[in-house]
Amino acid sequence: MDQEFWNFLDTLLSDSQVEIDRPKGSAHPRLPDLIYPLDYGYLRGTTTVDGGGIDLFIGSQAGGALDAVALTVDLYKRDAEIILLLGCTETEKQIALDFMNGASMRACLVRRGSGIDWLYSRRSVRHFQQKPIPDDIVRRVLETATWAPSAHNAQPWRFAVLTSLESRDRLAQALGEAFRRDLLEGGLASEEVEKQVSRSRQRIQQAPLAVLLCQYLTVGDTYPDADRQQYEHWMGMQSVALAGGYLLLAAWSEGLGSVWMCAPLFAQAAARQALSLPETWQPQALILLGYPDKIPTQRPRRPFNEVALYF
Ligand SMILES: Cc1cc2nc3c(=O)[nH]c(=O)nc-3n(C[C@H](O)[C@H](O)[C@H](O)COP(=O)(O)O)c2cc1C
Repeated sequence: MDQEFWNFLDTLLSDSQVEIDRPKGSAHPRLPDLIYPLDYGYLRGTTTVDGGGIDLFIGSQAGGALDAVALTVDLYKRDAEIILLLGCTETEKQIALDFMNGASMRACLVRRGSGIDWLYSRRSVRHFQQKPIPDDIVRRVLETATWAPSAHNAQPWRFAVLTSLESRDRLAQALGEAFRRDLLEGGLASEEVEKQVSRSRQRIQQAPLAVLLCQYLTVGDTYPDADRQQYEHWMGMQSVALAGGYLLLAAWSEGLGSVWMCAPLFAQAAARQALSLPETWQPQALILLGYPDKIPTQRPRRPFNEVALYF
């Protein structure tokens, strides 16, 4: 049924002429301080509740594919509308949403193929806007991560949420020192070591939010032999990693970019000490979060038949 909805919209679009009456950079007719961040217009020969045509934003992507619409509610005009987003990159979709979410209006995004296709759209984002993430969104993303499956339903994930710059600095400093030691021991030239350490530190400091993903060590079954005990620990790690994956996807669904950084795994004691975490919290990864500065292009995947065997 979803697919038919989009097919019908495609038909409407292909049968109509796009009219851009408010080009990017022009002012809103009623609110002159509001400047259109993208080309804005309507579909000629269509109608909506306010008597005009169906509105649309047009992004920079060639071909202008229709892969999302915004649903809006305006308490001043007392109406609700659908606005098409044509050829918009992820960043432009966010810009359009930010533009619509103001004054008396609220908007949300509905994507084409918001089921499985949407999973393909996630990217690791390493550069963020300096815009804070609202507390309720942070909470929702973390809570969603706790709905990952876990061995014995032990839920061994723990999150150290670094909202302050000071805490991110402290962790970045500690990880940087451990990273420097490892690189020097590995025989890398000191100039290159400093370059890599400072890049990693800046990345952490510049993210508006960081979550140190930890494994709580005292949950899980106890076995008499070392092998089974190790597998039990691995099951815990697998569960924590799943929560991490949920977290990345939950963030993406909120318009947030994120990247998984492995540094704390290599400097567990330093990370734990920097944040005065209990011994039972084993640092596994650092996840940086923020509104994307720009969405990176897709990283390639191995050919499917190389990674799957059918029996
Ligand atoms: C376990 C794990 C460790 C990773 N460590 C790092 C890291 O330390 N630094 C980094 O920039 N990206 C790191 N990444 C992100 C990967 O580089 C990224 O997922 C991969 O290149 C594919 O890109 P995509 O996520 O945009 O599809 C890590 C990802 C995973 C799952």
